[in-house]
Amino acid sequence: MLITNIKALVGVHPKEKLFLRGSELNQLPILENAWLLLENGLIKDFGLMSKIPSQISNLKSQISAEDRFVFPSWCDSHTHIVFAAPREEEFALKIAGKTYEEIAAAGGGILNSANKLQKTTEDELFESASSRLKDMIKQGTGAVEIKSGYGLTVESELKMLRVIERLKAKFPIPIKASLLAAHAYPTEFKNNHQAYINLIINELIPKVAAENLADYVDVFCEKGFFSNEETAQILSAAATYGLKPKIHANQLSSSGAVQTGIAHQAISVDHLEETDEEVLEALSNSDTIATLLPSCSFYINIPFANAKDLINNNAIVALASDYNPGSTPSGNMNFVVSLGCIKLKMTPEQSINAATLNGAAAMEMSNEMGSIAIGKKANLFITHPMTSLAYLPYSFGQSQIETVILNGEIYHG
Ligand code: NIG
Ligand code: FE
Repeated sequence: MLITNIKALVGVHPKEKLFLRGSELNQLPILENAWLLLENGLIKDFGLMSKIPSQISNLKSQISAEDRFVFPSWCDSHTHIVFAAPREEEFALKIAGKTYEEIAAAGGGILNSANKLQKTTEDELFESASSRLKDMIKQGTGAVEIKSGYGLTVESELKMLRVIERLKAKFPIPIKASLLAAHAYPTEFKNNHQAYINLIINELIPKVAAENLADYVDVFCEKGFFSNEETAQILSAAATYGLKPKIHANQLSSSGAVQTGIAHQAISVDHLEETDEEVLEALSNSDTIATLLPSCSFYINIPFANAKDLINNNAIVALASDYNPGSTPSGNMNFVVSLGCIKLKMTPEQSINAATLNGAAAMEMSNEMGSIAIGKKANLFITHPMTSLAYLPYSFGQSQIETVILNGEIYHG
């Protein structure tokens, strides 16, 4: 497939650039008035229309993208899209002034989702997660990480991971799975944390590893959830099975979670709404990626992460959706990129880089996703006619995406 007359081909980073740190995020290389050739599911070549070789311009399968931008697909590195039911009942409580913590303490929250998921079949979960993923793909997402964490029993956590395995087989995009059994303490382990941790370490992790059901391990390291010591135990055990951490850190409090993640060579520490000086220092020049989830801050009315100072301190900043039924009932990466600009005060270039190349890096797939480079996967989208790059985040809440292309073919859903 050949795409011609592209107003701007966005994100033509050198192929060897696998992540963007600090001020590197300011640079979003763009080719104006360009063509792009896709072959065998990959990006074959691209260049300026003024210099298009005649053997290429004569190709049959062509799309003319006049006035339109071509972007690499969004790489959403943090989601919880396998869940049994939405939680609108908490929406009303939230509007009435209850906090996320108060709702969870009153029997809402993660335990509520776990109760429902335990009673839901694998097939039902697969169907509902498929329809969420399809929506996300239509909104430009071309790679995704999905977590377990609403099972909270060996059987139900495995059920969730099997659903993710089936999603991997069904969808034409790269998917990574994270084991988040340490998402909340089930009620029966409320007064015996160690017994639940032992269950995760001695039963669940070995099974998950034996069946190769997860790429990463995640822990909700937070006051009232998993302490730093508890998190460290789980991360150490997971490491012996080759499961690297991507953890929930500093969402509701400044708990030392970021430091715990870094000490265990986490691929990413995610959330960081509580970005204190220690967090800035710990992530400065660190290889652990700071993944920010601004639509979570937006929805549950908590502070927005300090993206600016993270970038000023030379951190690698990524953006992701956190799509889940409790704190972020949306997987719209266009909105995430808008919030990156509006609330995290990132420039459009920084925000787009964070949601593409750095998002891919947070799933260890930036060698094949996240930018327009020869040999990378041809997962991209063509926008509606747009006046400028900034129009995409500026027109918040609306999708500027006209055509989604996955593996070099138009995605019809
Ligand atoms: O990333 N904070 C932990 N996990 C999710 C929310 C889970 C839920 O409320 O169901 C999050 O925000
Ligand atoms: Fe999350």
